[in-house]
Amino acid sequence: MTQRLMVHGGNPLEGEVRVSGAKNLVPKAMVAALLGQGVSHLTNIPDIRDIHVVSGLLRLHGVTVHQDDSGLILDASHVRNANVEDIVGHAGSSRIPILFSGPLLHRLGHAFIPGLGGCDIGGRPVDFHFEVLSQFGATIENHPQGTYLVAPQRLRGTKIELPYPSVGATEQVLLTAVLAEGVTELRNAAAEPEIVDLICVLQKMGAIITMGADRTILITGVDELNGYNHRALPDRLEAASWACAALATKGDIYVKGAEQWPMMAFLDAFRKVGGAFEVDDEGIRFWHPGGELKAIVLETDVHPGFQTDWQQPLLVVLTQAAGLSIVHETVYESRLGFTGELNQMGAHIQPYNECLTGSPCRFERTNHTHSAVVSGPSKLIGGELHVPDLRGGFAYLIAALAAEGTSTLHGIDLIDRGYENFMEKLRDLGADAEMITD
Ligand code: EPU
Repeated sequence: MTQRLMVHGGNPLEGEVRVSGAKNLVPKAMVAALLGQGVSHLTNIPDIRDIHVVSGLLRLHGVTVHQDDSGLILDASHVRNANVEDIVGHAGSSRIPILFSGPLLHRLGHAFIPGLGGCDIGGRPVDFHFEVLSQFGATIENHPQGTYLVAPQRLRGTKIELPYPSVGATEQVLLTAVLAEGVTELRNAAAEPEIVDLICVLQKMGAIITMGADRTILITGVDELNGYNHRALPDRLEAASWACAALATKGDIYVKGAEQWPMMAFLDAFRKVGGAFEVDDEGIRFWHPGGELKAIVLETDVHPGFQTDWQQPLLVVLTQAAGLSIVHETVYESRLGFTGELNQMGAHIQPYNECLTGSPCRFERTNHTHSAVVSGPSKLIGGELHVPDLRGGFAYLIAALAAEGTSTLHGIDLIDRGYENFMEKLRDLGADAEMITD
């Protein structure tokens, strides 16, 4: 049974949506519960696949996971070994399982991690993760079905400098260092708002973590952690996606629950393009104020720079802006592949291998198409779209909503992975879209 989404474009999206809890925090906070001896309560849970994957893996390891209207209740008092075959059943489902490494090494002395999944937006290696785990004292063996890790003795704090401020590797260090013996110094750490929220969770559990200047984090290991009570921060990536949908369709959307501080770089770019927004205590209203949208130069970067996950939805907006916009993707080497199908809809996007904004990135002089020149405004016409990845999929949805005529989106389950109830939210905003099951 496959599903496709028919979108009849050309109508402005108008109304209110409530932003969900952050996809890139909640599963990690669930993994953190594994470190605590008691019960953890996590609220503001989005109904997306990663939550089910992590719940399943936690249960296999003896954690009681209960969900009710208020959120998740996780009891990690009785962590136990899991059957490797059962763990392998989760192979390819998500990127989160690798973060079970440190917590399981602390609780059981060993861990088995299945093969990872996640969006196809680059090679997405995990070399930093295994390098830091071995620095803590773990031994690592790769098997065809996954990776087996052992802590021959209590893991020890260490000095780490990441080659690149990876979000996942920073989380790996945090989730491992909090119960390691002694102090861990992490340099060149990522500092995304979701990481800060994870640090808040760990601090509530009894961890000692100091975020210093220059992306340095100091963690003093403790002997035991407790459960926590935490409300996940709102999903700034989802909020920005709705903001782009408002601007591209000449609409007006109030994103209830959106917060300004984690979105400052996005809000700057949104304003430069010509979008209007207003922040109040409950959320942020985004709208097209009329007149021409303006071309901009956009470079993605680690926080506090412009987040890579905002790039694809905003690029669709740039197809509607007058003049030449330049986009330089510096976080993932393959996050501009989605532009080909936008060109088939009438956009004018020329991809390049060079670092077009002038600041060389890791992908300089490689064969990776990681820059683009977008020439606009272009009239978009409905087309057949094959969702390539989560954010690329939402970008196609925006293009389809802004286009004249009907578009068909295939591979919709990828959008479901990160946008809770997006069909219901689209309907609330007046979109003319229907899901067809074949
Ligand atoms: N990298 C390595 N080696 C590693 C780890 C990362 O070379 O061991 C490289 C990656 O290949 C990439 C860069 O470092 O080029 C950044 O990767 P990072 O580790 O920061 O990404 P991640 O932890 O795998 C999370 C989010 C992504 C988000 C990035 C960057 C989750 C589940 N995923 O991925 O979210 O783009 O951080 O902020 O938290 C999305 O939501 O659509 C999404 C892809």
